[in-house]
Amino acid sequence: MINRARGTRDILHPQSALYQKIRAISFSLLNANNYQQIILPTYEYQQTFSSLGESSDVVHKEMFTFPDRKGRSLALRPEGTMGVVRAVCQNKLANDQHFLKLYYWANMFRYERPQRGRYREFWQLGVELINAQGVRADFELLQLAKLLLEKVGVTDFSFSINYLGDEQTRERYKVLLQQSLQGKLDLLCEDCTRRYEKNPLRIMDCEECNQLEELPSYHTVLQATDVAYLANITSLLDNMQFTYVLDQKIVRGLDYYTGIVFEVKLTNRKRTLLGGGRYDTLFSKFTNGARRLPAVGFALGVDRLVDFLEETALTKSNDNRIDLLLLALDEKADCQLFTLKEQLLKLESALSLEVNLNYLNKKKTFELINTYNPQFVLTIGTKELNSSSFTLKRTSDRREFLITEKNAAALINEIIKSE
Ligand code: HAM
Repeated sequence: MINRARGTRDILHPQSALYQKIRAISFSLLNANNYQQIILPTYEYQQTFSSLGESSDVVHKEMFTFPDRKGRSLALRPEGTMGVVRAVCQNKLANDQHFLKLYYWANMFRYERPQRGRYREFWQLGVELINAQGVRADFELLQLAKLLLEKVGVTDFSFSINYLGDEQTRERYKVLLQQSLQGKLDLLCEDCTRRYEKNPLRIMDCEECNQLEELPSYHTVLQATDVAYLANITSLLDNMQFTYVLDQKIVRGLDYYTGIVFEVKLTNRKRTLLGGGRYDTLFSKFTNGARRLPAVGFALGVDRLVDFLEETALTKSNDNRIDLLLLALDEKADCQLFTLKEQLLKLESALSLEVNLNYLNKKKTFELINTYNPQFVLTIGTKELNSSSFTLKRTSDRREFLITEKNAAALINEIIKSE
């Protein structure tokens, strides 16, 4: 037997229903906020992702790359922001006046060491607000992220916020960090010793090394305008009673961030559930200066959210329960069975229903009630065929409702929906 590839998963029911639920809740929230869905290609030319930073792990060692038949190097998308930037430029989407609001629901691929909550193929809900600058735009994104988690039913989470400033500011911090660790490299883990030269900022991501006392405070390198911005956004957050902590260790794993950066963790969990920030120079870098669009965005790790919802039983145990089981007790009833099914499914808010597809004996057919645990059962046998009426039975108290064939679907729908 051939098994699935390492780091991938088969997402089966009822877990897949949770993905569906998160997707439905987030799409409805984002559509209501005037965001539009963008469906991105699963793979791009590898250069699309080079602005993620030659020193970032995603580019350095985690990308799935392969040549096409003409030898061009392609990569499975490791994240969505770069694809969005490419698509906005290629389709000339953002004009000068208006902001552009996009979201995507997509599987991403990173060649990481698989563990629970860390997969080689994983799902993200990404949100990007392009051509909008300043506190208001940043706050909209933070508020959306919070609302999204609350709507899914998660309340125990915390926002950590930091401000990275522009590239010069980051450079200043890198130098300061390197100076502070000079001659003390033996204090760093193996990965961070490598990072010290190439990408010292990433040392702040390492849960072991970011605890070192030697690390200088990020805010010492910020400029007056950065400090003023931080004061403005934190004042809005405080006035909105938005709970967050300022955490100078948040630097994010991708190199394109310029202003505010943020991460969300679930209480008592190690892994980050959602991460994002501002990337005001990425468009310019991607187009060699031809397009300059300020932007801010975030991505939610859907698999981590699903794992959490499963573990904490925030999901209702009777989520799988169907509304109606239609049972044909005779082959002659097939036409009525499928006519009624079609009429029911055509109604605007369709009921969840099932029919007995296998030709079983009467006893086995009735056993299906235990399998599907429906709220209502409707049987169609010789008696019903002769009288052109059906009996709808409520399973909780066995109460019966007589339904005549005319308008049957509407009537059944009304009874079940009024439950
Ligand atoms: P990221 O922090 O690399 O950011 O990923 C966002 C989220 O995706 C993480 O917080 C985590 O929940 C989830 N995630 C990342 N890697 C894995 C993995 N191997 N397995 C399971 N879940 C994972 C970005 O991707 C940016 N594009 C976010 C962004 C959008 N920034 C601005 N706009």
